Amino acid sequence: MADVKFINLKKSYDETTILDNINFKIQDKEFAVIVGPSGCGKTTLLRMIAGLENITSGEILIDNTKVNELPPSKREVAMVFQDYALYPHMTVKENMSFALKMKKVNQDEIDKRVNEAANILQLSNLISRMPKQLSGGQRQRVAIGRAIVRHPKVFLFDEPLSNLDAKLREEMRIEILKLYQKLQTTMIYVTHDQIEAMTLASKVIIMNKGKIQQIGTPIEVYKKPNNLFVASFIGTPTMNFLKGIILFENQKLYLKSHDKFFFIPNFAFPLSDKYINKEVILGIRPDDIILDDSKIDVENKVEANVDVVELLGPRENVHIRLSSDKTICATSHSFNSTPNSKIIFSLNYPNIHLFDPKTQERIN
Ligand SMILES: Nc1ncnc2c1ncn2[C@@H]1O[C@H](COP(=O)(O)OP(=O)(O)OP(=O)(O)O)[C@@H](O)[C@H]1O
Ligand SMILES: [Mg+2]
Repeated sequence: MADVKFINLKKSYDETTILDNINFKIQDKEFAVIVGPSGCGKTTLLRMIAGLENITSGEILIDNTKVNELPPSKREVAMVFQDYALYPHMTVKENMSFALKMKKVNQDEIDKRVNEAANILQLSNLISRMPKQLSGGQRQRVAIGRAIVRHPKVFLFDEPLSNLDAKLREEMRIEILKLYQKLQTTMIYVTHDQIEAMTLASKVIIMNKGKIQQIGTPIEVYKKPNNLFVASFIGTPTMNFLKGIILFENQKLYLKSHDKFFFIPNFAFPLSDKYINKEVILGIRPDDIILDDSKIDVENKVEANVDVVELLGPRENVHIRLSSDKTICATSHSFNSTPNSKIIFSLNYPNIHLFDPKTQERIN
């Protein structure tokens, strides 16, 4: 058992609050990914769990035990740092053994654990090398190995893949998933890369400016983002946003935006009078813009011009110009859009997202 709980956690440096009102729980054996833009407080939160940073107020519980005052070595967590932090004068084996030697674990047990970790991470033939004789990906694996041998209750990863090139990052992402499936241990993984978060996490914690914005499974935060920040942070290409006025005419709801009328079915927007004739922001993912003529009924069609088309192998991104200063992006698999041509599209209405421009919160 190793769940991790945060109660009213706060971190300040002098007058500046870095993390505020952090309340959530990571279940035993969960792969929790904390994601958010640079500077939002991810590393600080991880370092507080590890005991490398003191807590201004609130509590961290590991296995229902308050760890605020517990030194790092007593917390049974192991952290993998972004820059690997290997000891340059030690071999791979010495790097991996070091923490266990410090804990006076006997040599047979150390050898057993190091061999086991080296096998899992395919490092067995590199065990006598120095860090400088390893590639970036291999160094990263040694850093992970150093955490594995400690048999921690919780693994903490701080952007472990950010120093690797795109291809290696993809490979290591799969390795980390395999490792998780093998070890079945609680993992807390920090990244600013939403794709990493979506592919690895069983639970995603989205942060911005020191505050939690939303917690959920990857599919939940993708399908039902709580607010504009989450909506724009999660998903590639990014969600399109259309600011407009909600109109109620002939018993039907419309959004008027950039001189176009977008039909809003009642089921997508439980009618609340307070939004009629008011400004709202409609969010629509590129995948939810329908370009196939045969699927668009007359009432819902919108006409505009294609601006540019990006070819991406299995699909293309069609950028549609709504006005001189507004384009929206649609994803297509049919490859028949040409720049500057007229296009008819419609929105996949069950999947529209509506936000209040003042509060930035979701309203449907
Ligand atoms: N020792 C410190 N003293 C004062 N401010 C600090 C200190 N350490 C971090 N900060 C500030 O706290 C905020 C959060 O930093 P943190 O390193 O946790 O961000 P992060 O989300 O990990 O960002 P990145 O994605 O760039 O790694 C930043 O604004 C940073 O400048
Ligand atoms: Mg960081």
